[in-house]
Amino acid sequence: MNFLELAKKRYSVRGYLPKAIEQEKLDYILECGRVAPTGVNAQPQRILVVNTPEGMDKMANAAGIPGLYNAPCAIIICVEPECAWTRKYDEHNIHEIDASIVTTHMMMAATELELGTLWMCRFKPEVIRKEFNIPDKYVPVNVLLVGYTAPDALYKSPDRHDAESLRKPIEKTVTYGTF
Ligand SMILES: Cc1cc2nc3c(=O)[nH]c(=O)nc-3n(C[C@H](O)[C@H](O)[C@H](O)COP(=O)(O)O)c2cc1C
Repeated sequence: MNFLELAKKRYSVRGYLPKAIEQEKLDYILECGRVAPTGVNAQPQRILVVNTPEGMDKMANAAGIPGLYNAPCAIIICVEPECAWTRKYDEHNIHEIDASIVTTHMMMAATELELGTLWMCRFKPEVIRKEFNIPDKYVPVNVLLVGYTAPDALYKSPDRHDAESLRKPIEKTVTYGTF
């Protein structure tokens, strides 16, 4: 399967089977995140894996979603801004970009393993900090739910991106030369 096929295959899964992810698969996903590029190779990501029922209860509380789609695992991608690169011209710190490419690598790795994922930014920052003892110097940026997709979770066709209602055509988002 080439990358475009894999990318088209992935969709946001909001229903999971009550089945744990094998450690071997989790290790593969985490390794794919480890090799992701980051600005100046700073590797400011600090990742917390939550894969116990008690932990998932806490994650559901932080997300404000009871049951949290029955997901067996949440990977909380935090970042330490102090360790991330800052562009001197405008003092822009790129920590969220670094966290997001690590998250993307892991999401696509899980897709390759036929696991479902849901990328979530909807969580209560103060609650997630408290529930998981996230140090002040770390920022929780993304949560990636991972698990086996439940049969009743809406299957989305790899061809769905052809519909303009789901993905804008290239001409609407890409310009050559200058804006
Ligand atoms: C940065 C980011 C944040 C997202 N946050 C949430 C979220 O908090 N809750 C949720 O249900 N989906 C979330 N999503 C999923 C998007 O809604 C979803 O990817 C988009 O609607 C396209 O659908 P698809 O993933 O099925 O192709 C997020 C996706 C991204 C990339």
